[in-house]
Amino acid sequence: MCGIVGYIGYRDSVPVLIEGLKRLEYRGYDSAGVGLIVDSKSIIVKDKGKVSNLEKLLDEKGLKSNIGIGHTRWATHGEPNVMNAHPHSNEDGTIFLIHNGIIENFNTIKMSLLKQGIKFQSDTDTEVIVHLIDSFIKKGNSLFKAVRLALSEVEGTYGLAVISSNEPDKIIAARKGSPLVVGIGNGENFIASDVSALIAYTKQIVYLDDGEIAEITCDSFKAKTIIGDDIKKEVIEVTMSLEELDRGGYDTFMLKEIMEQPESVLNSIRGRLVFEEGTAKLGGLENVFDKLADTKRIILTACGTSWHSGLVAEYMFEQYLRIPTEVEYASEFRYRNPIINNDDAIIFISQSGETADTLAAMREAKRKRALCLGVCNVVGSSIARESDSGVYIHAGPEIGVASTKAFTSQLCVFALMTLLLARKRDMSLVDGQKIVTEFQQLPDKIRKILTLTSEIEKIAEVFKDAPNFLYLGRGYNFPVALEGALKLKEISYIHAEGYPAAEMKHGPIALVDENMPVVFIAPSDSTYDKIMSNIQEIKARKGKIIAIASEHDTVIDTIADYSIKIPDTIRMLTPILSVIPLQLLAYYIAVKKGLNVDQPRNLAKSVTVE
Ligand code: M6R
Repeated sequence: MCGIVGYIGYRDSVPVLIEGLKRLEYRGYDSAGVGLIVDSKSIIVKDKGKVSNLEKLLDEKGLKSNIGIGHTRWATHGEPNVMNAHPHSNEDGTIFLIHNGIIENFNTIKMSLLKQGIKFQSDTDTEVIVHLIDSFIKKGNSLFKAVRLALSEVEGTYGLAVISSNEPDKIIAARKGSPLVVGIGNGENFIASDVSALIAYTKQIVYLDDGEIAEITCDSFKAKTIIGDDIKKEVIEVTMSLEELDRGGYDTFMLKEIMEQPESVLNSIRGRLVFEEGTAKLGGLENVFDKLADTKRIILTACGTSWHSGLVAEYMFEQYLRIPTEVEYASEFRYRNPIINNDDAIIFISQSGETADTLAAMREAKRKRALCLGVCNVVGSSIARESDSGVYIHAGPEIGVASTKAFTSQLCVFALMTLLLARKRDMSLVDGQKIVTEFQQLPDKIRKILTLTSEIEKIAEVFKDAPNFLYLGRGYNFPVALEGALKLKEISYIHAEGYPAAEMKHGPIALVDENMPVVFIAPSDSTYDKIMSNIQEIKARKGKIIAIASEHDTVIDTIADYSIKIPDTIRMLTPILSVIPLQLLAYYIAVKKGLNVDQPRNLAKSVTVE
């Protein structure tokens, strides 16, 4: 969703802002703009569409400035056009503001400002904040205090930055519900909604927490709470590197991220397996381990792909731990007053660690005193910081909007958790060691699947114009069917549905004819015979069958129109392998349709508004 960058220091801010905004493009946006102070005058440049359009405009104008703020907007209130793009300004154009989030009481504030004769220039909820700030400045407050007072009247969520030509030596930044970080440099400082926008300049980061406001000059940083109390913030050194944020020779981030799964999976399990004891080690769970081991119910809460990984975890936990497990959409969980008991453990899964619904669900669960664990990828993200404890998946930065390597790494973490807890319960040493060995073989098995790209590309060519797809799987591979369908629809815009294979007879089979491709995830496990019957049922109705099957399965070749073979592993780990051909199939179909796989239409990488 929207991205924020700000710079103050000795450099020309324009290239810093443009580079930062380009690093944030992956979040999804529809317009971009910057606000600069040039020779004591405030100048706004904004445009619809890509950051490259904005860059061209700025080049033409040849503007230079040592202070500036930049924004990519993902429209919520008001259509995507130049007028609604950020920054927004007060009436005399001295104050500029960029904002991520939603101001819920904007209508009430707008009505009262309109009554005072203030003229609005956009349809956004954001614009009310800048006029409100202006009204506090007119009462004699400094910019910092005016922003603080304005924000105490605002309801909703924000990550925002403000500059003023009357106080041109500072950027004011504040956060509530939308991420914001300050980057500390030497004679220069930065702000951004995402560390990746700053990493080219500094790795010294201050994470603002909700309800905090900061004043940043080129050589100082101070923070207060919105209610005015002074606070001390810790500077944290992040480990992310620039190379990790580049495409590394691949055409797209999505392909790079699919192809690096042998390494990302290895990073998720590295140092976490103990063969001699047939178990796993997860430092992030140590302080809650006893409580977790005694838990009577586990609830997994997430959105999108992370929700799918929660569904796989449900199979793992119930098979090996025999702990009743539920999986909830975060957006439903947060509003339905869930029943939470003292001995429940709730796991919040999020690649970004910033998804608004998942974060709000966690805060709701914390209010009810549940044990809240985070399973996140982005280090220092809100869910990671606010959960009682948790485990990083260590997949490395995921830039493509379609989640791929984060999914397989989430599954690794859940399998590690399963092993750790199962060994505390009733799993034998020998069984634990077998699982450790299977874990260790995963990177090589993934490498083997990744050699099938040209085979999968040919299948993509055959089906790229199909209007619909069905994905069917059983047991551990039912969530994989959902994930395969989600991957296809989000990047190729083909309608796709995932189902448990047996459910097909209860409705979806009506859709099947000679034009319907049906993807079966059918490895040789205990559900194999059942799923073979389902394949026959589709075959009988002339559906086109693409099967993901075990490498030694030759029977399937006699029935399926196309089969993609994956190495065998234990059932719990199969989804880590079986999902990879589905990621590649979706990828090649979208590419053959000429679509932008890294930034699909209407989608944002990190959904920071509900
Ligand atoms: O960052 P999160 O894991 O919390 O994101 C959740 C979903 O928004 C995300 O998985 C989304 O569904 C992806 N586009 C799927 O590829």
